[in-house]
Amino acid sequence: MRIEVYLDQDDAPFQTLVPPETFHLDTESMADGPHQLLFRAIDDGNGVSERRMSFNVQNGPAIAVHGIVDGETLHGQVGVLANAYGARAGDEFEPRRMETPVPVPTWAWVLFLAVLAWGAGYLSFELSNHIESVIPQGASMERAGTPQASDESPESGSDMSQAWAVLGEQVYGVNCASCHQATGAGLPSVFPPLAQNAVVINADPAEHINAIVHGVSGKVIDGIEYMAPMPPFGGILSDAEIAAVVNHERTHWGNNAPTITADDVAEHR
Ligand code: HEC
Repeated sequence: MRIEVYLDQDDAPFQTLVPPETFHLDTESMADGPHQLLFRAIDDGNGVSERRMSFNVQNGPAIAVHGIVDGETLHGQVGVLANAYGARAGDEFEPRRMETPVPVPTWAWVLFLAVLAWGAGYLSFELSNHIESVIPQGASMERAGTPQASDESPESGSDMSQAWAVLGEQVYGVNCASCHQATGAGLPSVFPPLAQNAVVINADPAEHINAIVHGVSGKVIDGIEYMAPMPPFGGILSDAEIAAVVNHERTHWGNNAPTITADDVAEHR
């Protein structure tokens, strides 16, 4: 049994082996480009079989071309970028030349912009959600999950965990405290106290809401007739703001009445 090895179209084998056997293929003596090895095995009874292996030799520098695709149809001026790198063993390695500078492809820009747009959208969505939960509508939506008419007393004056808490304190301070005082005590015979006020601690919030939306005048409260009217705030405050201030009054100064939502206010407009 022997194996003859032929290179390309050579008539004579360049190697004759007794299998199994290792041999060296010296590609440096070949031209760069496609080549072929033909293995011909001949057994002792003179039976022959063949096997061909194709391979590519490249000992010169590799070439990279950008701007033209093989077989492409071109017209007008075409910008073409050519680069060559790498070479024979022992050549100094130049990483910078290995990386052919290619312009950023369009799809990468599209992907980049899409990700950017998504990010901006996500951010503004989160932000508006956050703002809503701090200021208006959120007040009513957020409360859907929490007990509305809880019998357990929320810590009077210190329960800042509710969405309306900050807003309620703010609205009361700006619009109501000048008359009813920050303490909710009012001014004797001039402005009625809201602490332990029958309307404020009534479980039914209808009159409480109406007083703020439409104002009050000529009403005798606890035997006292007030000369000044309570101005209407329906045109000044939003549903959420009225709900917040109603809740503020219902949970401060020892008051402990069920809280309401902006929707409750809307019903009484
Ligand atoms: C200009 C002074 C003034 C301001 C500001 C004012 N009130 Fe009044 N409020 C009064 C007077 C006076 C009354 C009593 C009117 C009456 O009895 O005729 C009153 C009555 C009320 C009542 C009804 C009490 C009852 O027993 O019927 C509530 C509730 C109330 N005020 C809440 C508020 C809230 C909330 C604000 C702020 C959004 C506010 N007030 C701002 C003067 C004021």
